Parts: sequence; C-alpha cells; structure tokens
Amino acid sequence: MTPRWRRRAERLGLAVLTRSDPEAAHGLALRLLSHGLGPESGPIETPRLATTLAGLPLKNPFGIAAGFDKNAEAAAPLSRAGAGLVELGAVTPRPQVGNPLPRLFRLRAESAVINRFGFNNDGMEAMAARLEALRTAHPDGLPVPIGLNLGANKDSEDRAGDYEVLIARLGPLADFLTINVSSPNTERLRDLQGPAALDALLSRAVAARAALPAPKPLLLKIAPDLDEAGLDAVAEAAMRHGLSGIIATNTTLSREGVSGPRAAERGGLSGPPLMARSTAVLAGLRRRLGPAMPLVGVGGITTAEDAYAKIRAGASALQLYTALAYRGLWHLHDLAAGLDALLARDGYASLGEAVGADVDAVARVTKAG
Ligand code: FNR
Repeated sequence: MTPRWRRRAERLGLAVLTRSDPEAAHGLALRLLSHGLGPESGPIETPRLATTLAGLPLKNPFGIAAGFDKNAEAAAPLSRAGAGLVELGAVTPRPQVGNPLPRLFRLRAESAVINRFGFNNDGMEAMAARLEALRTAHPDGLPVPIGLNLGANKDSEDRAGDYEVLIARLGPLADFLTINVSSPNTERLRDLQGPAALDALLSRAVAARAALPAPKPLLLKIAPDLDEAGLDAVAEAAMRHGLSGIIATNTTLSREGVSGPRAAERGGLSGPPLMARSTAVLAGLRRRLGPAMPLVGVGGITTAEDAYAKIRAGASALQLYTALAYRGLWHLHDLAAGLDALLARDGYASLGEAVGADVDAVARVTKAG
C-alpha cells in the first residue's frame, strides 16, 4: 500500500473506531498496527527536528506516551510510525486486571479523554518476554529509543520496592526507564511525589539503576496537579539524586475546561484541556532546573503550535497520546512538518535553540488541582 492509501485507510478506520467503545477500539487499533496497517514510514527526520533525550539521539522530538501500548503488543510497528521515541507500559511487577469496565471515556466536544485504567497490564515477566522476542527479531535494535513506564502494584506492601524490582528485571531490556508516581488511578500512588517518600523512593531506584550491567537513563513522570511547593520538592529531589530527566506531565484530576455528563467520571483527564496546566508545570521545572536537565513535555499537544509552545516552555522532547487516539498516527507527520516550519519561520536552525525561549513568559502554577 502506498503512504497515501495507508493514510486514507487510517482515516476510514478511525471514523469507525472513534464511534465504538473506546477501550475495545484502542485494542483493535493496536492489533491492526501489529498486522502492518500503521504508517510504517520510519521515524520522521529533518535536520532541524533532531534532538536528544538524556544522551539518547532522537530523529524528532515526538514520542508516543505511556499507556498507548501498555503491554508491548505493537512496539515494532509503533517504532516505525514516525515518532522519535516510544514509551511502553505502565508495567507493574505482577500482572494486574485494573479497574472495572467502563474505564475510558471520550469527551468528544473537547477532543479529550478521561481514563481510570488503574495499571491493567500483563506484568513484568510478560513484558520481559516480549522485549526479548523483539531483540531476537530485530538484532540491530528498533529504529527509535524504547522507554518503559514503571508502576507499582495496587496491593503492594512496598511500592518503592516494586520500582527497584522493575529496574533490575527490565532495565537491561529498555533504552530508558520512567518512574511513574503520577497516575491518579492507583490509590495513594501520588503520595510518592511528596518530599520524604520521593527521597526514599529515588534513593532505592538510583541504587537499583547503578547495579545494572549498563546504566540506563532514569526519568521521573510527575502530575500536573502539583503546586509551587510540590514543584520545589520534585526539582530538588531530581537534582540531588542525579535523575536523567523529568516527564511533565501525566493526566489531571482537574476538570477545568470540560463540561457535560462525562466530565463527572472519575479518573485522569488528558487532551487539550490539560495543555495550559501541564505547560505551566513544565516551565516551572525549567525555571528551577536551568538548561541542563532534560525535560519531556506532555499533556494536551494537538497541533504543531502546541508542540512549539512546549519546546519554548522548556521541553527538549515531547510525548502525546490523546491527539493520536482521535487523529491517528499519521498526525505525527503533520505535527513534525508544522513544527519544522515554525522553527524555520523564527530563524532557528535546530530545535535545541528554541528550548526554553519563553520560559519566563509561561504562567506560574497558582494552586494545586
Ligand atoms: C495514559 N497515561 C499514562 N501515563 C503513564 O505514565 N502510564 C500509563 O500507564 C498511562 N496510561 C494512560 C492511559 C490512557 C488511556 C491515557 C489517555 C493516558 C498518560 C499519558 O502518558 C499522558 O501523560 C497524558 O495522557 C497526557 O498527554 P495527552 O494525552 O494529553 O497527549
């Protein structure tokens, strides 16, 4: 199939999928992808869009965010879909069924989503087996860095210990690891973002990383619902423990900017209504951490202008999920072309030159959500 026909097929498929049950539709989309029906264009490459994340070279800054492929069912085709990086998971040590159905809701008027999955996943051994099979099938590696989003089991008695176990078992199989303490759907998980709990968790996680045969970048993914004091604590801990980067942000508990009956569903909100808040958190981190700390901007990116705003607020790489669910993976090509044009318009020869250009202009986080 030519790229043009692939794109048409995706548009048709989306027209059907976005009218079906959202969780079933996403599962079907992953199956279609794994049967070769995705863009398959390879990572988009332009000299201006090349960037790095914690030392990993990226052909472009657009990443597929965690949650899109929780169980590495379509990792290889996703790595060829156009993105510059892919984050798989969340994976927990033991398999978990997650919350009862329904747990994924479209807020069509706002092109947003609420989810309360609760880390449903096949567990770390299944993930390890899939990643090992990928290695066998692709001995030269996949075309883009593959990260793993790590979560704690709901019923774990030692949640910090879960991250240690995951780092030890899966670290050798991934290009980077993300400690996710920001999902709103596992009760009290976000407590791990508090200063004392975060300090204890990061001490153990960093030690587990140091014991790997080859150390891997270790990132922390935070919630958009932190206030200024919360950001102080995260920034301070990231510096003290020598984290490789921070991913800002996960979904929000706030319901600002959404209405209608679905807005009352419990869970984390993602998509355009999250954009301003997550960008404020991103800029708040960049202000605190200076230019050196890698920051991944995620939350509400739908257009090339949104992507550019995240870069100018301090992101050196990006991730997205909700816009891809509504618009399909070909949208990555529109975003990349649009961002490239915006950088050219403003006279930037490379994306890195624009990182943080507006950091002082972005509004402060005024209150916790
Ligand atoms: C997510 N997200 C997420 N994040 C994470 O760290 N681990 C996870 O397992 C999941 N799972 C998940 C499932 C679903 C259905 C959605 C919509 C989101 C959050 C995601 O990675 C991202 O941070 C937010 O969705 C914000 O970005 P977008 O969607 O506004 O581009």
